[in-house]
Parts: sequence; C-alpha cells; structure tokens
Amino acid sequence: MEARYRGTSRQGQFIAERTWFHLCGIVGFTGEREAQEIVLDCLKRLEYRGYDSAGIAMISDGALTLKKSVGEISALESQIERMPGLTGIAHTRWATHGKPTTANAHPFTDCKGEYALVHNGILTNYMELKEQLIKRGHKFTSETDSEVLVHMLEEVAGADLKSKVLAVLKLVEGSYAIAVVQKGHDEIVAARNESPLIVGVGHDENFIASDVTAILKHTNEVIYLLDREAVRITPKGVELFDLNGVAFERDPKKVSWNLEDAEKSGYAHFMLKEIFEQPRAIHESLLGRLEGQEDDAFFKEQFTSIKILGCGTSYHAGLVGKYIIEELSRIPTNAQISSEYRYSPVTEAKPLVVCISQSGETADTLAAAREAKKRGCKTIAITNVLGSAITREADFVIYTRAGPEIGVAATKTFVTQLIALYLLGLRLGTIKNTISSERRREIVSEMRALPRIVQSVLNDAGKIEDFAKKYKCAQSMFFIGRHMNYPTSLEGALKTKEISYIHGEGYPAGELKHGPLALLSKDTPVVAICAADHTYEKMLGNVREVTARESPVLAIGVEGNQDLEKYAEDVFLVPKVDPLFSPIPIIVALQLFAYYLAIARGCPIDKPRNIAKTVTVE
Ligand code: G6P
Repeated sequence: MEARYRGTSRQGQFIAERTWFHLCGIVGFTGEREAQEIVLDCLKRLEYRGYDSAGIAMISDGALTLKKSVGEISALESQIERMPGLTGIAHTRWATHGKPTTANAHPFTDCKGEYALVHNGILTNYMELKEQLIKRGHKFTSETDSEVLVHMLEEVAGADLKSKVLAVLKLVEGSYAIAVVQKGHDEIVAARNESPLIVGVGHDENFIASDVTAILKHTNEVIYLLDREAVRITPKGVELFDLNGVAFERDPKKVSWNLEDAEKSGYAHFMLKEIFEQPRAIHESLLGRLEGQEDDAFFKEQFTSIKILGCGTSYHAGLVGKYIIEELSRIPTNAQISSEYRYSPVTEAKPLVVCISQSGETADTLAAAREAKKRGCKTIAITNVLGSAITREADFVIYTRAGPEIGVAATKTFVTQLIALYLLGLRLGTIKNTISSERRREIVSEMRALPRIVQSVLNDAGKIEDFAKKYKCAQSMFFIGRHMNYPTSLEGALKTKEISYIHGEGYPAGELKHGPLALLSKDTPVVAICAADHTYEKMLGNVREVTARESPVLAIGVEGNQDLEKYAEDVFLVPKVDPLFSPIPIIVALQLFAYYLAIARGCPIDKPRNIAKTVTVE
C-alpha cells in the first residue's frame, strides 16, 4: 500500500490526495521447501483483488534478493531467475495514482539492504517520519508511505528483528498489515492494525497472508490476527505477541472453504461481501480526512453553483449530493445524468463540476468531464480507481477508498461516494462559513459513528431476508421517499431491478397521486422510506394513501418510530442518525433487500444479465 501526496505544483491541482491501496495482497512463507515458487503461487491466489504491480523478496544463503515489476505476477515471474531460499515475502499492489512504477512496488529495502518489507494500509504520520529520516541521511527510492518503515528499522534499537519491528510500530500511526524479513534469518515478523492478516500453520512450514485464499492450497489451519497483534514465524514455530511484545496463545482454526469461497471470504457472493465491507470502507474513506490535516492543500475557491454528473448509481449519489452540499454550504447544486449534460445549451456561470464514477472509465462521464472543461469549468472527480481515466481529465480528485468492487451492482462504492460528498460539502461549507463550529463538531462525530451504524443494520440482515422471501413473487414494486431519501428510493429500486429482475421504480412520495397510484394493487408492494426528519408526517400520509389501495407496505423507518407499525404491514427500523446522514443506513437496508430478493428468485447476483460493471461506450 502506498500513500503519497499529489503535488500542489501541477497547475490547477490543489487537492492533496492520499492514494490508497488497502486491498493490496501480502504473502510470506518460511519452511523447508524452496520458497520462491510457493510464495508466487500464493500471491496469484490474491489476483482477484486486482493489482497493478507485484514484487518478491527472498532470503537466500545469507543474502537478501528483491524483484519487482509492473503488470501481472506472471510478468514478474518471467523476469526472474531462480531465487534460491527457504523464506520469502511478496506483495501485489492494487491500482496506482498515475502510472504504476517498479520503484513504487513493494517490497522495500533499507539503505544497507538488510531488511525487506511489504505493507498494506496507510500511515497517517509518514510525512514527518520521512522528513526526519531524510535529514538523517536515508535515501528513499519510492514515493510511498510504506518505505519509511524499512528505513526506521535501521534506526531503532533492538536485539532481534521482532523487537526492532515492535519499536518501529510504536512510532507510526495509521493502519497496516506488514511483513518483514532480515538477511541471514529464516523468519518473518508480521503485524496488523486495521488491515487484514492471517497466519497459516503447516508442517515444518508456516505462512502469513492477507487472507486465507492465498494459502489454502498448502494448509487450512489458520490463526486470525486481531488489531495490534503480531507474529514471528519460523519453519518450526509460530510465536504470537501483542505490540508490547507480550506473548499469547491462540489455537488455529480449520477452514473448510474451497478456493472460490475463500475469495469471497466465505460470503456466497461478492455483492454480499461488498455490502458487509461497508463499515470498513466508510472508516477508510474517512481516515485522516476529518481532522482537517489536509485542509491547507484542499482547494480554497468559492463557487456560486455546483453541477454533479454521473451515470447509474453514481448519478444517484450525485442526487443525494445535491441535498448534502446545499445543506452544508448553501451553494445551489444540481445533479445531471452525464449523457444528458452535453445537450443543455445554457451554460451557468462556471459551476464547479463534480464528476462521479466509481470505475473512472465510464465513457459518458468522461465525455461530460471534457465538455465541462471546454465550458471553462473547474472539475472534481470522485472515483474509486486510482489513476483511472477520469483522474486525468479532472482538476481535482477525491478518491473513495472502498477497495475493488467485483459485483456488478455498486454497493460499497455508492456509500463511499456519499462519504466523499459529505467531505466535499463540509469543505465548501467551511470555505463559505456556513457551518458553525458546533455543527461541524456534531457532523464529524456523526460521521465517525457511521461504520458502527452500518454494522448494526448488517446485524439485522436476517430480518430483511425474511421480508425479501415474502415479497419475492412481486412483478413490480415502488420505492418511495422524500427529500434526500427520494434519491435513496431511486437507488433501492435500481438495485432491485438490476439483480432481482423485479421491476422496481423509485418515486418521490408526493408524486404518487399524479399517476402511479393507478398501478397500485395488492400485488404491487411499496417500500416507503420514512426517515425521522421533517418529511416523516408527510410520509405517513403517503403510506396511508398506499395501504388504502391494498398495496402491502414495507416501511423503512428509524428506531423510535414505533407508530409506523400501525400503518405499514412490515417495518424495518434502522438506527437513528442525524437526518443529514439518513440515506446511509437506509440504502444499506435496501441493498440487502435487493440481494435477498435476488437470492429468493434464484438470480445470478454478481453478474446480472445484460449489464456490465463498466460501460466504456457512449
Ligand atoms: C454501469 C454499472 C453501474 C454503475 C454505472 C456507472 O451501469 O452497472 O453499477 O453505477 O455503470 O459506473 P461508474 O463506474 O461511472 O460509477
């Protein structure tokens, strides 16, 4: 993983953005067999995560050898001669900002070539550490945050690799899974904090890896490390300890997954896995961004209007973004479908144009970004893919840090797009002075609580599954909401239609009586979003309007809204949040609803018919 700052030097590019590779893959092996082939084979099992460069370090006859390359693992393999040795670590790095380079690929080594290290995560204080190390004469070969760790190993005191690694970790802040080897030693020291890491226990050989997929071919005995835990593996032993060096014991668990299950971490589908990854994705999207530490480098201009462009789910994020930005900054904002943008002959007075695209490659959004530039507008891209085409078109980039999304139906990328929009709204509001310091504090604390809130919705997935079983035979469904949950209803309907093939239609609740009521009957369920805000009473009126037509209503409400049960046939309650954040827990419930509907109907889920994850034609 790498974190680096986009320079402020490039004209018009004043957003400092940490690039983010939290789903890089790490593997390590030490045993009595030649390590090179095993390590590379394990690394290939992590290919499903997506990556753009790879590297390996081997301890061979007292020497430390290191090879890295951009592109596929097979490219790395074809470039390397046999690297003898019984201990090795390797790494895949997912995506990069701009061109991925060999220099930025892991592993990294220190100035003397004594240690090699791979890292997954983000070090929030690496800039200070790097400056100090440079002053002390260390030579850096990459732009990554990770490299500081390996130079720090040279500086700290410690009798052995284990104590040196612990000493280094005392000085760093942020998230990490690391694995380190030292010349002349058949051992690997690894540690984790907020990044996954497991230990594979074999016979006269042991492994470490980012996930079990990597090692399953060799062993199914796995020890899961928790945050702030570390391990030292040798061919004969596994020594577990916390970051203070205090030893502990934990029995390995036998994993019964096959390889395909393992890629999905045991979830039945990538979509479900990605839905369940949302607390983590939100946490990572917020990391280091709420403390204001990047404020100086973020843009400082005032804009009189904002236009948000996107397709599909990204457009829906834009529609929610309109409410977020207007609420926080009072800047008039509207969202438009990318493919329609070019047809509007009216050019507003240079709005800030925000282009949202999880893939960063959607042809219509790229074309819209170019059109916006042509019209002289400043553009911001919100994307999940580092170095994607949209990042080259836009003046600024805000990366969502959801990690690769494999399921065609966007889930965690949508939620992290909303996070990016809240951050943008906060920034614009700060510049315009429309947010009191007290309100800012409230917002920040609400945002920090979002991972926990989402987790609690996920904990209730079983209830949603039951509702889905009940409604699985519907031919058609309406999703209704008001204010910022009107776009949430559109997104819930989109998820439903794309994966369960039930015709789902999102509608502003106030518009039902202007047409759709004609379609309602006992066979047309209505999902009514009843957020605990100024729209609540009006939504109750809409629910009554619907039940009067005998349509069954599944109300999505908020804890405390017990009276909903009087009006709706079924009620699912999400935790209470500040109304500004209500779309987040609600959309998670609707994603689960769509998923379980699709399961109940026997649909393929991850690759729905006729639709593609990334649409590169206009
Ligand atoms: C396709 C996908 C959608 C996605 C849309 C926009 O239609 O199936 O899930 O929302 O493209 O993609 P983007 O990568 O630009 O967000």
